[in-house]
Amino acid sequence: MNSTRTALITGGTGALGQAIALALHDAGHRVIVTCRQNGPAEQAWLTEHTEAGRPFLLYAVDVADYDSCRQLADTLVADGHSVDILVNGAGITRDASLRKMPRESWSAVLRTNLDSMFNMTQPLIEGMVNQGWGRIVNISSVNGFKGAFGQTNYGAAKAGVHGFTKSLALEVARKGVTVNTVSPGYLDSPMVDAVPADVLESQILPQIPLGRLGQPAEIAALVAFICSEPAAYLTGSNVEMNGGMY
Ligand code: CAA
Repeated sequence: MNSTRTALITGGTGALGQAIALALHDAGHRVIVTCRQNGPAEQAWLTEHTEAGRPFLLYAVDVADYDSCRQLADTLVADGHSVDILVNGAGITRDASLRKMPRESWSAVLRTNLDSMFNMTQPLIEGMVNQGWGRIVNISSVNGFKGAFGQTNYGAAKAGVHGFTKSLALEVARKGVTVNTVSPGYLDSPMVDAVPADVLESQILPQIPLGRLGQPAEIAALVAFICSEPAAYLTGSNVEMNGGMY
């Protein structure tokens, strides 16, 4: 039996983030999503979900910026929210072979995909520890473990995500807070749409034993399980879901 919890999903308006928001909503939780900007497109997104009976809350934050994350945590407290479940899902790609990679593409990916783990988790974990219950799910990638041509930045950041998970899991294991990594493979999403079609066809799809891209909802169902009461014994793990790719 699940209790109603408050879940915060960074990158919550993206393809995977939205699927996770839906799954956690369906599991009976209050859902807060964050996005980089809270503009007209995000407001339209919110309205659409509200009208469909999913009253998500939306906050803007730059997960690459520590002060922005601290400020969000303060705002959430002021608004009466206490976050029980944190899904660190915000992430970007800036693919290029190392020889061609601009330094900014390295830094942007490391800041957004790895620094964000520290930036968003540190301000929120105290509340979980104090109440003796929490779930943290960090989204990594198959490419953090197997590597990918053109992803030294992304691969390094996503491998780092799991190092972060394992260490933090040790620190809070006795406090009722679990910390796990979920590593999706290639998903049917705009991030994968950005891969040149010929590269996807000739290099990537042949490496997926199931022969297809994953659906964000498949990953989201896994995340919802990890956030549930019966998953209390799962911590420090990397759970892979990638069509058998790795
Ligand atoms: N494997 C082996 N060789 C490859 C290759 C690959 N995957 N891709 C390119 N090459 C080879 C080319 O054939 C070419 O060889 P020659 O020099 O002998 O002709 C050479 O490498 C070209 O190298 P460049 O540095 O010039 O590469 P490029 O500028 O043409 O493009 C790239 C490189 C931007 C990385 C492009 O290949 C690409 O976009 N690849 C996809 C990367 C990828 O998988 N991204 C995943 C995005 S989705 C995601 O990240 C979500 C998730 O978690 C899974």
